[in-house]
Amino acid sequence: MFVSSLLAIGLAPLLASAAPSWSVGPTTDYATKASTKTCSVLDYDGVADGKTDIGPAISSAWDDCKEGGVVYIPSGEYALGSWVTLTGGKSTAIRMDGTIYRTGEDGGNMIFIEHTSDFELFSSNSKGAVQGYGYEFHKDGSLSGPRILRLYEVTDFSVHDLILVDAPAFHFSMDTCSNGEVYNMAIRGGDSGGLDGIDVWSNDIWIHDVEVTNKDECVTVKSPSKSILVENIYCNWSGGCAMGSLSTDVDISDITYRNIYTWSSNQMYMIKSNGGSGSVSDVTLENFIGHGNAYSLDIDQAWSSMSTVSGDGVQLNNITISNWKGTEANGAERGPIKVNCAPGAPCTDITIEDFAMWTEEGDYQTYVCNSAYGSGECLKEESGDVTSYSTTVTVSTAPTGYSAASMDADLATAFGTDSEIPIPTIPTSFYPGATPFSALAAKASSA
Ligand SMILES: *[C@@H]1O[C@H](CO)[C@@H](O)[C@H](O)[C@H]1NC(C)=O
Ligand SMILES: *[C@@H]1O[C@H](CO)[C@@H](O)[C@H](O)[C@H]1NC(C)=O
Repeated sequence: MFVSSLLAIGLAPLLASAAPSWSVGPTTDYATKASTKTCSVLDYDGVADGKTDIGPAISSAWDDCKEGGVVYIPSGEYALGSWVTLTGGKSTAIRMDGTIYRTGEDGGNMIFIEHTSDFELFSSNSKGAVQGYGYEFHKDGSLSGPRILRLYEVTDFSVHDLILVDAPAFHFSMDTCSNGEVYNMAIRGGDSGGLDGIDVWSNDIWIHDVEVTNKDECVTVKSPSKSILVENIYCNWSGGCAMGSLSTDVDISDITYRNIYTWSSNQMYMIKSNGGSGSVSDVTLENFIGHGNAYSLDIDQAWSSMSTVSGDGVQLNNITISNWKGTEANGAERGPIKVNCAPGAPCTDITIEDFAMWTEEGDYQTYVCNSAYGSGECLKEESGDVTSYSTTVTVSTAPTGYSAASMDADLATAFGTDSEIPIPTIPTSFYPGATPFSALAAKASSA
């Protein structure tokens, strides 16, 4: 079981960590699937020569093994020239131990899995990777290439021990899925907006022990979503984790982010909208460490990078921000607390507790609360009517206990967008003092 203590490095209170209360993952184990049937791409005219399009072989292997079995992509180098849509799987797995290099140029999704249940996508040597060579698009200023991986209407599944590199567009999105577990992944993209790490709009999903490098979404929840647990995440130079952009009829509830380490990102957590309607409720953001980020806590319901949509604003209710430590880049320019709620839909029941961050530059920082009700820091206590208001508090003394551990291997220089990005290995630590929930598959299988 996962036991952790941040007390060892002086970060009280005790670091809570737990698996979700709902079920996740495939319902049939891998060994049972493998003993039913294995379809190696090499038996479907696939060639590991780095040149022959592996797309048709993956599709043929899927057709033969999608109803009970394993599609096997052995170690080796493969070219993906045509995209694959894998549909209608039941009790199946894809074991991807090789490296797939993008050679095709279409938009869309390089690997698209849909209408599938009891499914596992993983690499048994923890080295399976997709190299998207996004820089070939980005160096000319284009973000119009494909996403690497998309799951749509997939239930009872896991995706793990995979490496996704340099997506031409997004790296991994999960849309309308349920009961899924995503873990032990490294995602490394170019230093630009539009190259999201993981985007999820789904129910009952557990995402843990993931590293993201890019300059847009690290792990982001979109609407509609319910019951999402995100923990042990290392945004190792990124845009940072977020919720949004939120528009109309937003429906998000029961979201927890826990043990989130963010380095050199746009923010540690952002909830972003501009106008709109619907609600976000029952959100916990706990145990966050940040260093070198522009924003830290950034709730912005008048987000200027988004055009205004109709409605008084998304109603945010019952959001707890707890145990945030570390430093922000420049607290006078962008203070560590910004809770800018819509005047037409003030936020309610917001709690900020055990929050201690300090500025890396200068000697003061600001906390901004606009139309935000609840308790802690610049929030206004709720008594009677909630109306719009604005407060900025200037803090000139470092809060007690702000200092927090750094990860040993924070990325020092961005990868940029105009040259090849090397394929990383999957790390075995994603948050200071927290042990990953599962050993890497490579380690587990050799143990
Ligand atoms: C507030 O949200 C938390 C989860 O973040 C939940 O446990 C709690 O029951 C909610 N409170 C109310 C009053 O709904
Ligand atoms: C963070 O990113 C840099 C560059 O990718 C890498 O060298 C370092 O190992 C990463 N840190 C971890 C813990 O993976």
